[in-house]
Amino acid sequence: MTGNVRPESLERITTPELAKKFIDEQIAAVKEQVGESGKVLLALSGGVDSSVCAALISKAIGNRLICVHVNHGLLRKGEPEQVCKVFGEQFESQLIYVDAVDRFLDALAGVADPEQKRKIIGKIFIDVFAEEAKKLDGIEFLGQGTIYPDILESGPVKSHHNVGGLPEELNFQLVEPVKFLYKDEVRVVGKELGLPDNMVYRQPFPGPGLGVRCVGAITRDRLEAVRESDAILREEFAKNGLEGKVWQYFTIVPDFKSTGIKDGLRTYDWPVVVRAVNTVDAVTAEVAELDFAMMQHITKRITSEVAGVNRVLWDITPKPSGTIEWE
Ligand code: XMP
Repeated sequence: MTGNVRPESLERITTPELAKKFIDEQIAAVKEQVGESGKVLLALSGGVDSSVCAALISKAIGNRLICVHVNHGLLRKGEPEQVCKVFGEQFESQLIYVDAVDRFLDALAGVADPEQKRKIIGKIFIDVFAEEAKKLDGIEFLGQGTIYPDILESGPVKSHHNVGGLPEELNFQLVEPVKFLYKDEVRVVGKELGLPDNMVYRQPFPGPGLGVRCVGAITRDRLEAVRESDAILREEFAKNGLEGKVWQYFTIVPDFKSTGIKDGLRTYDWPVVVRAVNTVDAVTAEVAELDFAMMQHITKRITSEVAGVNRVLWDITPKPSGTIEWE
């Protein structure tokens, strides 16, 4: 499919049958575009769009798809492992895992301004990816999980996340098999491709990852508190059947402390803020109404299991006046 307007002939994909038809068509299209021996490089974040795109391309050309997964240290607990398992074992693609954690966290040390943090993360991401691309010979194609809202909105939000900012000398032709699909259609296709449910139905996750949830200058210990508290929240939401029902839920760790008490002794530790919202388009958002006993249980788990945390605050601010993320 060429151009940037969704073809009228493309039926809305709502069922496994329609997804199968779409997959077959796209496998044929990718084969035709890439040819008998062409190779495709793809930056795989583990998000729905890049994962579905990678799964589709690998069905078409097997291990001539080379996925690069950059671990910037700002991913959620278990994510790098899952990406490596799915695309290193389940699908036939080649997977290059780049541990760039120190490079990102060293560059971010002492940087408190949110936009500056985003810029650093975006720039290093492109640098790391371009370095990997240059190490590989004979790659003409770049796979991208662009979806239709990206084309329609093409705003700044995801700019660093797509690798559109790659140096021109790399001179790639784009392979974008899901570019005319809406998010719900991408999920139906992902399910049909056999991707795990927690990849297909995952909530939106910002490109700068947990970096914008570790408020102010990121420190490794506070970042761990974000990651561990987020894992507990996701586990409890899944247990309570809220996965895929609440639009986005996560934790934030601000850069201030308060006093508390543990085992009869005074503590001086961080709070964890919990945010759970529902929205249609992320332009406005409502706070999800949650069961109070569940909130108490999550509070108890976070304060007893996460190092350096003595308090949990629940953010019940709608958007506006608050944005969904804190930074
Ligand atoms: P806000 O905080 O603006 O967020 O209400 C709206 C939605 O966008 C996500 N978000 C981002 N996504 N890069 C992204 O790819 C970013 O820099 C970024 N900042 C916010 C946020 O998680 C929410 O879903």
